[in-house]
Amino acid sequence: MNPDAPLPLPTTRLRRLRHLPSVRAIVREVKLSAEKLILPLFICSGKDLCKPIESMPGHSQLSVNLLAEELKKVADLGIGGVMLFGIPPAKDARGSDSLSDDGVIQQALRIVKESTPELLAITDVCFCEYTDHGHCGVLTEKGGQLDIDNDATLELLGRQAVSHVRAGSDLVAPSGMMDGMVGAIRESLDRADYQHIPIMSYAAKYASSFYGPFRDAVESAPEHGDRRTHQMDPASGVGQALREVALDLDEGADMVMIKPALAYLDIVSQVAQQFPGVPLAAYSVSGEYSMIHAAAERGWVDAKAATCEMLTAMHRAGAHLLVTYAAKEVAEWVSS
Ligand code: PBG
Repeated sequence: MNPDAPLPLPTTRLRRLRHLPSVRAIVREVKLSAEKLILPLFICSGKDLCKPIESMPGHSQLSVNLLAEELKKVADLGIGGVMLFGIPPAKDARGSDSLSDDGVIQQALRIVKESTPELLAITDVCFCEYTDHGHCGVLTEKGGQLDIDNDATLELLGRQAVSHVRAGSDLVAPSGMMDGMVGAIRESLDRADYQHIPIMSYAAKYASSFYGPFRDAVESAPEHGDRRTHQMDPASGVGQALREVALDLDEGADMVMIKPALAYLDIVSQVAQQFPGVPLAAYSVSGEYSMIHAAAERGWVDAKAATCEMLTAMHRAGAHLLVTYAAKEVAEWVSS
């Protein structure tokens, strides 16, 4: 071997695809668009309240009477829909406010229908925002310990979903990870003659540390214990997530969601591949949003670039829909 011989030159040069911005643009495959974004909103009772959520910069608890103005902005930006979370005036052991046709979320839904009827209104169906103990269902004692009564909660989830739809929800999204929740909600909706209302199940939802800011926002941190007896173990294998998705589809889910998104892109990707044709959402949760903002405040990352990069990855992994607290800014960025 002659050590001075010229090195062989590459014949394939992928940099040609990157040399010009115009070439980069035509070979790009993943594009964020406003209509694929869902914005979560926090609604409280009371009047003229806009209470900033400290751990979620740019987000506030909004009272029902201020909602219409916000919805108009969301609709004008071309965002795909809103996902509503309610903070009731009073919480109790059964989460009664969530079942009442005059509950905070039901009032909010009527505002959506009056002010922006064309905007997709999705509701989170769960009890943790409404119970005084902060758990996702009614409690019972098992072996000397308080536990969520799965089966008693099913009937209540069905009632909550029907009440949401009666008030104007277009799509219900059960998030409590109770066994049988999708089947129970489907049956309850059908019996109430709401066969046309789709269910987007939080099919694979993990017991994640990234929900911290959300629990501040809705004041739903569990008073005792945690959510590990129903939300999935982050260290469980992909197979368990696939079982959850298959089961929910079998029970009648029309769309499925993976949550959180950023640390679970492998799950998003596998579900997309294994269940082609099933609309798939990824929920980029509060902690993902707040992390970027906290780092951006210190000048450590650029919020716009980091947010778009993160959401692009979720899309590339196979999510068709992205639930994100950054929906408004992203909608502006992608249209400019
Ligand atoms: C449950 C629910 C939670 C989130 C959405 N729906 C909280 C939880 O499971 O404790 C978290 C969303 C987020 O962190 O952005 N109703």
